[in-house]
Amino acid sequence: IEVQQVNLDAPLQNHSNIPSEFVWPDDEKPCLQPPALKIPPIDMKAFLSRDPEAVANICAEVSEACKKHGFFLVVNHGVDKKLIEKAHKLIDAFFCMELPEKQRLQRKLGEHCGFANSFIGRFSSKLPWKETLSFHYSNDKSTRTVEDYFLSSMGEDFREFGSVFQEYCEVMSNLSLEITELLGMSLGVSRECFRDFFEDNESVMRLNYYPSCQKPEVALGTGPHCDPTSLTVLHQDQVEGLQVFVDGRWYSVAPKEDAFVVNIGDTFMALTNGIFKSCLHRAIVNNQIVRKSLAFFLCPHKDKVVTPPKELITNENPKKYPDFTWPTLLEFTQLHYRSDVETLDAFS
Ligand code: SIN
Ligand code: FE2
Repeated sequence: IEVQQVNLDAPLQNHSNIPSEFVWPDDEKPCLQPPALKIPPIDMKAFLSRDPEAVANICAEVSEACKKHGFFLVVNHGVDKKLIEKAHKLIDAFFCMELPEKQRLQRKLGEHCGFANSFIGRFSSKLPWKETLSFHYSNDKSTRTVEDYFLSSMGEDFREFGSVFQEYCEVMSNLSLEITELLGMSLGVSRECFRDFFEDNESVMRLNYYPSCQKPEVALGTGPHCDPTSLTVLHQDQVEGLQVFVDGRWYSVAPKEDAFVVNIGDTFMALTNGIFKSCLHRAIVNNQIVRKSLAFFLCPHKDKVVTPPKELITNENPKKYPDFTWPTLLEFTQLHYRSDVETLDAFS
């Protein structure tokens, strides 16, 4: 495994000069003020109304965006604003704790869950300027995975933390399932096709915390990568940072209150037989304030075989990728990830 731990004693701090591990090569240095990517805000309430005209218009917008770059916004999503606010407050509370406290949840090499800082992930040639906390979510209603994880590893003090993020993940899973209906209809397959596939999802939630950085022009919060997962439903705070690579250049995805950013990952691209795209993206940092984002990564149950519905395999668009299960693709990306090669092509 290429992942390697770097021991920087202190958490990320605003030094006047940042350690060389955080200085990205010239061809990967960020542009700090790129143009904004025009992505459609999709009205989920209108989609769920099942009004035929509204649904047809929405599907046309989603289809256009997903064939081009795989990014769109959802608005009118019905997620309680207070829940989102609570989640953001708890992120602040967690990452403001002393390092040894956070390290009680230390993510180990090769693992996907826990607290991580100063590591070289599969995405990076250099260190990302961020701290993260990741945990598993299972849509099996008989388990409360998130709550149990925090209670058993951090004790009673984390009861509220666990229950808020349990609820947040349940809400994200439901929203993701609605989005899979939208994607199915946008592709002209049945509404239930992808929903049924993800009903028993075993997903991952990641809290991203990007401290301000003295040298935002040489550092990156998250290096360029395509998500290997199925769908990402992201809530970013009001601080700009997310960038997407489209038509040979970087664009920013401006924060929009009350919206979630959705993007297609490699696994969903495979499910659509390559029709919907998984697109390169990254996050930059700034020298003013902390940036936070919450990412819910929808992932299929570990035993599900990822294969496109037969309607999407045609003479004009023959089957592009071999069938796989999500854990095998994840393992492959950990060993061989390169931001300049499409994972599914390398995997094939
Ligand atoms: C990511 O793509 O992993 C990070 C996105 C963000 O923080 O905006
Ligand atoms: Fe990502």
